Amino acid sequence: IAHGKAVRATQWWEGARDVLLQYAQAGTPRYVYDLATVRDRARNLLAVPAIDRCFYAIKANPHPAILRTLVQEGLGLECVSQAELDHVFATLPELSPQRVLFTPSFAPRREYEAAFARGVTVTLDNVEALQRWPETFRGRTLWLRLDLGHGEGHHEKVKTGGVAAKFGLPIARFDAFVDEARRLDVRISGLHAHLGSGIEDPRHWRGVYAELAGLADNVGTIETIDIGGGLPIPYTPDAQDFDLAAWRTGLDEIKSAYPRYGLVIEPGRYLVAEAGVLLLAVTQVVEKDGVRRIGCDAGMNALVRPAMYEAYHGIHNLTRFGDGATAAFDVVGPICESGDVLGRSRLLPEATGEGDVLLVADAGAYGMAMANTYNLRALPAEAVIA
Ligand code: LLP
Repeated sequence: IAHGKAVRATQWWEGARDVLLQYAQAGTPRYVYDLATVRDRARNLLAVPAIDRCFYAIKANPHPAILRTLVQEGLGLECVSQAELDHVFATLPELSPQRVLFTPSFAPRREYEAAFARGVTVTLDNVEALQRWPETFRGRTLWLRLDLGHGEGHHEKVKTGGVAAKFGLPIARFDAFVDEARRLDVRISGLHAHLGSGIEDPRHWRGVYAELAGLADNVGTIETIDIGGGLPIPYTPDAQDFDLAAWRTGLDEIKSAYPRYGLVIEPGRYLVAEAGVLLLAVTQVVEKDGVRRIGCDAGMNALVRPAMYEAYHGIHNLTRFGDGATAAFDVVGPICESGDVLGRSRLLPEATGEGDVLLVADAGAYGMAMANTYNLRALPAEAVIA
């Protein structure tokens, strides 16, 4: 199917074409981030009265300028590794540890100890860690991550609940965890669930809050309920914008039903995906058996999402922006893998040729963060528009 009908609202980069072409001239592949867009998305979320605190999941894009922008806007930061914690405090030495969450998965013991030493909020998602490392956890305060029995999201690989997923304590073991915690004088002050990424149903989060609040009422020490991230953005030309108004109404309603708990969210993608573009240079245009391919100077090494999740990203010829996009091309990278395809049957200008700059849209989340050096290709450069 050929995609090309642009029904989406104008995006920031359409007005920044000259600046972007200059950046491309300085070298591609290159990610460029627009901080005004990051700020705009942060303000959308902070305007929701039911939300008490918002933590940015830095795994989506740990660029220092993005971290500084979001912290200035009043957000906290969520980290999943000791290296992410180190990066956050190196970037923002003045940041209060109260504004940092540590939500690792299968981390080694020393990472929990390092996080406690820093004074950040640690989330644990299994009882075995308490049993195996009692001295690490004794007397601590922590949050508990639960698996509510089902995963959600844009692809199987990003669902983080249910039997197939490695994350979260199943509800069936909730009492066992609470007993073990009591034995070790561990205080559970928060309940957490993040069931996946790119969840389209705006009612999902109110459901998570309701479920966790029901459990929290039985524990007695819970102050905070963290309903995770997972907010989607519209990647395809025909995708609807996320219904933020319905999301907000749901949270307002459920918060007034259970007003005792602080409501925390930890989005990544929503804050940064649309703020980032990937600029590539066309290397070769080739026709084979009726399929026309545009080759670029980076592919799945710079942006792995299409290869990994069959994710869609809009692709535009920035050099010939405004020319009719009338010819269908597969857009591919230089990596020695058949899966190195950024987009299939994309409509682009007929004259697209060597040296043109292509723009891959909505690449600000899980783009650079997942880039790799496969085939010994260099990592993309980055630039920021303040
Ligand atoms: N909180 C936790 C505990 C998470 O594991 C994640 C993402 C988030 C928050 C933020 O989720 P977001 O709001 O960005 O959906 N690489 C995949 C996404 C993996 C998400 C991993 N966890 C992708 O490119 O679609």
